[in-house]
Amino acid sequence: VAVLDAVPTPIVLAPMAGGPSTPVLTAAVCEAGGLGFAALGYLSPERAAEELRATRALTARPFGANVFMPPGEPADPASYAAWVERVRAGAGGRPVGAPRTGDDAYEEKLALLCAEPVAAVSFTFGCPSREVVARLRAAGTETWVTVTSPQEGSEAVAAGADVLVAQGAEAGGHRGTFVDRVDAPLYGVLALLQLLEPLGPPVVAAGAIATPAAVDAVLAAGAEAAQVGTAFLLCPEAGTAEPHRRAVASAGETALTRAYTGRLARGIRNRFTAEHGADAPLAYPELHFVTAPLRAAARAEGDAEAVNLWAGEAHELAREEPAADVVARLGGPR
Ligand SMILES: Cc1cc2nc3c(=O)[nH]c(=O)nc-3n(C[C@H](O)[C@H](O)[C@H](O)COP(=O)(O)O)c2cc1C
Repeated sequence: VAVLDAVPTPIVLAPMAGGPSTPVLTAAVCEAGGLGFAALGYLSPERAAEELRATRALTARPFGANVFMPPGEPADPASYAAWVERVRAGAGGRPVGAPRTGDDAYEEKLALLCAEPVAAVSFTFGCPSREVVARLRAAGTETWVTVTSPQEGSEAVAAGADVLVAQGAEAGGHRGTFVDRVDAPLYGVLALLQLLEPLGPPVVAAGAIATPAAVDAVLAAGAEAAQVGTAFLLCPEAGTAEPHRRAVASAGETALTRAYTGRLARGIRNRFTAEHGADAPLAYPELHFVTAPLRAAARAEGDAEAVNLWAGEAHELAREEPAADVVARLGGPR
């Protein structure tokens, strides 16, 4: 049975690495009838294993796990040296990291997920190989691939993806674009859904879905379920940092920026995106490691002006309520 067929409510909790995702949140969504996801991005293999164990201890229902595809060739240091110097000069005494790359322990996480399988593994930042899809299938796990264009959808189908996660440009957080580039298309979720539907696999829609009407809209356009991130950020079960919570709850424009990580992401505008967004180079994960200590310090001080405030375009609609209430409100009977 396909995973989504066994899930009573067409609501998928978006994986949200970097703090917001917690085992308690993932399990709460599953227990409420949705499909929870664990966010394994940025975690060491040991922490990823703990995350899965903690989630399993809280729910016997199926849940998924999300993995970052490794980046391509490292960026040329000359492309970001001056930018990094400016960030360092403007850091106001906060720590700044050294640029480096890394594969986010891709192989180790795959090995973990094959040894202790979950219902579905979703990938972002690229497409897994046919061989990886086959390994997961042998473990009884569906492969979901985040796509941002019809071209990426076709590549994911060719690789054997079971489900396409259509991420519109409205979505909060990083864009899952296979290869980040300045001229990458910015399909809205409805356009993308219509273009992906003929490809065959079930499609899950993501991007600024925050009301029952928006869930109905993507289901009407052919989606099997809505993947919702920002609307869960204010839940008590989420690990969202205080300055991030305050910004999500307030009115405020979002923008696509490479300022924090060197990869395009949508977040609420603040001083850091204004000062460093316009000329931020494409250098992921190099710039992620440069700004990570600075962001952690700002977060600890409660300063929202230097924290990556990832949020989708409809963030003002997020409510401070238990995750089960969000699932019931967005996905329940009407
Ligand atoms: C705080 C935050 C963190 C995110 N982290 C991840 C992640 O680790 N992996 C991933 O595939 N998508 C991530 N996303 C993107 C979501 O999967 C999804 O596309 C997005 O939340 C949908 O738009 P919405 O936030 O407007 O609901 C993140 C989004 C947010 C808001």
